[in-house]
Amino acid sequence: MTLLPVPTTAIIVVAAGSGTRLGADAPKAFVGIDSRSILRHALDGVFAAAPMQVVVVAPAGYEGEAEAELRAAAGDRADLGRVVTGGATRQQSVAAGLRALWADVTTVLVHDAARALTPPAQIDAVADAVTGQAGVIPALPVVDTLKRVDGAEVVAAVDRSELAAAQTPQGFPRRALEEAYAQAAASGTDHTDDAALFAAAGHPVRRIPGSERAFKITTPADLERARHLLGHAGVPAAPALPRIGIGTDAHAYGGEGDLWLAGLRWPGGRALSGHSDGDAVAHAIVDALLSAAGLGDIGTHFGTDHPEYAGAHADVFLRRTAQLLAEAGFGIGSVSVQFQANRPRFSARRAEAERVLSAALGGAPVSVTATTTDGLGFTGRGEGVAVTAVALVVPAG
Ligand code: CTP
Ligand code: MG
Repeated sequence: MTLLPVPTTAIIVVAAGSGTRLGADAPKAFVGIDSRSILRHALDGVFAAAPMQVVVVAPAGYEGEAEAELRAAAGDRADLGRVVTGGATRQQSVAAGLRALWADVTTVLVHDAARALTPPAQIDAVADAVTGQAGVIPALPVVDTLKRVDGAEVVAAVDRSELAAAQTPQGFPRRALEEAYAQAAASGTDHTDDAALFAAAGHPVRRIPGSERAFKITTPADLERARHLLGHAGVPAAPALPRIGIGTDAHAYGGEGDLWLAGLRWPGGRALSGHSDGDAVAHAIVDALLSAAGLGDIGTHFGTDHPEYAGAHADVFLRRTAQLLAEAGFGIGSVSVQFQANRPRFSARRAEAERVLSAALGGAPVSVTATTTDGLGFTGRGEGVAVTAVALVVPAG
């Protein structure tokens, strides 16, 4: 039997967050990028770096799943890994990881599982750069022009040459990091990253170059970016692509009250039937937008099990849909909708309809066209209306 040397470097992979901003139905680390989860990708990167102790910090109740991911990524080096349970904050999760370090470890790296595509070379570079009592962080130059703001007010320009965007893994001499953690716990201070906590204890921190691939998956748009990068392995980071969606709807005439279509009331028109006001134009737009963002369809969010939408008009549906997209990290590029029916005559109110629909979507351009079907089909026989909508949405950031 060959005895492998016990590594003196350890990496704590924190994966215990809930992923509120990602909004998936599982904790963020267990959300799939492709066939592999965020945690699995992060661990694949870790095990491709030089051998080190690997401590995975999992959300309470997900230790078994984390163990399975660890074993799959570790291959024949499962001896290096173990799973511990995380805490309510990132800092508490790192502290839990620190308690699991082997006695021989002298250098500790702390890494966000959410930086799933971090190159193994970045992990090695941080580990190699830790010497003496200084901490090491990978960081990228800031490219945006920055302003200091107070509400809507721009207060000052900020010189970006003095700033850098911090990534992980961040590396530290073990004892100094443990002492810094003990101090932060004693004083009850919560820091946003390990370098800040380490610096608060009076230790120097140096930076080395980070990489674009080490970005943190925070929002659905970030997840899209990771998927895109994996689909184009080796190609430099490209912005996430816009996405399109389609929606159709049809309603029969025969409802109660007034005709509502394209967010407008049409005095004297025959009402359409439906759970809400039967505004097929609005409903087709909602489906097109939800489909473009991969957020299900109108039934998912506004079905008949939501009595609050009974009788609601277009603006209620469209505003809520725009909000759902914004929460998922998508802006609305544009919407095009076509309406098929003999009545009402649309041309006189086209501009008004476009204005109302656009306002309900936060200002995104909406174009409305209308056509008849030469007497063919149910729209030609005057039994109802049919609508098709196409939407373009853009991942934010
Ligand atoms: N993390 C952790 N324990 C916590 C909070 C966060 O281990 N109590 C980890 C996350 O799993 C993630 C990293 O710290 O790998 C960076 O945090 P963040 O990106 O904010 O992830 P979440 O807290 O899960 O996301 P959100 O803030 O959107 O809820
Ligand atoms: Mg968080």
